[in-house]
Amino acid sequence: MSIKSEIDKRKTFAIISHPDAGKTTLTEKLLLFGGAIQTAGAVKNNKIKKTATSDFMEIEKQRGISVATSVMGFEYKNKLINLLDTPGHKDFAEDTYRTLTAVDSVILVIDCVKGVETQTERLMEVCRMRDTPVIVFINKLDLEGQDPFDLLDELEEKLQINVRPMTWPIGIGATFKGVYNLIDHNVNLFESSKTKISDDYISIDNLNDNRIDELLGGEATQLREDVELIDGVYDPMEQEAYLSGKLAPVFFGSAVNNFGIQEMLHQFIELAPTPKGRITDQGEIDPALDKFSGFVFKIHANIDPNHRDRIAFLRVCSGKFERNKFYKHVRQNKKIKFSNPTSFMAKDKSLIEDAYPGDVIGLYDTGNFKIGDTLTEGDNFTFQGIPSFSPEIFKEVINDDPLKSKQLEKGIHQLTEEGVAQLFTARMGNKKYIGTVGELQFEVIQYRLKHEYNASCSFHPMNFYKACWFTSENEEMLEEFKRLKSNYIVLDKDNNLVFLAQTAGVLQITRDNYPDIEFHFTSEFKRQSTLVQ
Ligand code: G4P
Repeated sequence: MSIKSEIDKRKTFAIISHPDAGKTTLTEKLLLFGGAIQTAGAVKNNKIKKTATSDFMEIEKQRGISVATSVMGFEYKNKLINLLDTPGHKDFAEDTYRTLTAVDSVILVIDCVKGVETQTERLMEVCRMRDTPVIVFINKLDLEGQDPFDLLDELEEKLQINVRPMTWPIGIGATFKGVYNLIDHNVNLFESSKTKISDDYISIDNLNDNRIDELLGGEATQLREDVELIDGVYDPMEQEAYLSGKLAPVFFGSAVNNFGIQEMLHQFIELAPTPKGRITDQGEIDPALDKFSGFVFKIHANIDPNHRDRIAFLRVCSGKFERNKFYKHVRQNKKIKFSNPTSFMAKDKSLIEDAYPGDVIGLYDTGNFKIGDTLTEGDNFTFQGIPSFSPEIFKEVINDDPLKSKQLEKGIHQLTEEGVAQLFTARMGNKKYIGTVGELQFEVIQYRLKHEYNASCSFHPMNFYKACWFTSENEEMLEEFKRLKSNYIVLDKDNNLVFLAQTAGVLQITRDNYPDIEFHFTSEFKRQSTLVQ
């Protein structure tokens, strides 16, 4: 089969949500529809318990499970679907952001009781950065949620995206009767089922049909009014607008009851993009090119303590990847071949002979890879846009065992390469700061340093508010800034200069004092301008 037809068969996406909205439940139901799992409960373990004090065994288990379920492949209606898992715990948000660079679209789950939550907004910001197409699933309609029109308004306002309902709830909570499919014009009556994989739809050509009243009783009038309003207020669904990330089709349902999901899956198959090109420092790479290329977006330490090897997750961006063929590691300028690349199906990891654009493969790594690394068939380009985001918590690393300095150095280096946290190094002296989005990472780092590197450290909290990458056209101002703020300027993992602002106020004053300097909260803007090194 040609590369083009392999591409046309594939869809690679992620499900994202604020914790507890129902991402894991929806994932499981989609796998059930796709035949990748037979029973509910198989994916359920894949999250760290949401307790305040973390249970390390649970983290270890999570790391193990998440390698196996990081990419779940299944077939649906002759399409090969790659569903990339994203960690549910907010402290691992950065892992989620990186995973989003490897997908072509997302399904965003919203809890109808809670509406748009903080993590939802941040995830959408990341989607907007590369115009990722978004489908919204409003979940938990069996609970007393907010008015659906209010929810749509909130989505548009807080997520800055136009919406178009594709299905519509009939009642909500105690009065929830089912959903009306605005595209296929049928009614799916609500019944609770955890395992059912097909629904019985009742076709309704005309909403004034008396059958509607028989089926829905008092809710029928409301449905008629709602549908009239929807057609008057919302623009028709346009695939182009969806594909460019401007318009989100919205579905309503109840994941735990396996309800309203099939409608979404049908439309997902129709609408969602096939693997798209990716931007490199030498322009966009067409996925249908003959030559293979791909990038590493995630690195996972193997949980087997007897083996130090790691698994690098690579998204194939163009051409055909083949086992045992030499490829170029662009950053290291060396050739590497892979004798046991794996694909990740929901059930187990399996050896693969080849892979195509949109696929994610696992490469055993003995320390060659960093997140963001590019592999090619000889070309010298590098994929762009694997962002580092400003951490929220900063701590200085204190070595608790001076005899193990080397181990500590190596451990910190490797763990931050894996993306567990960000490392910032003082330009003078030897101070190291770790930046994370959550407290949990510090515990994970301490635990892993001890168990995997035999090193121990403690952390000294630092009062920093944001890490800011900076750019400027004004050389003179830049030099003065670097000189006067030298105590607060550190190096990131790629040796870019980063300003650590202590408070929002300090950042504002700094901006006022240095108007020609632009401060950025992610390293993503590399695409437009050059970072200061
Ligand atoms: P997450 O991955 O986004 O964090 O959410 P997850 O799927 O774990 O769902 C969070 C909770 O919401 C779970 O309950 C789940 O059963 C429940 N849930 C998911 N979909 C629906 C729905 O449509 N209606 C209702 N009423 N609840 C739903 P839990 O108590 O945390 O876990 P469990 O004991 O049920 O497994």
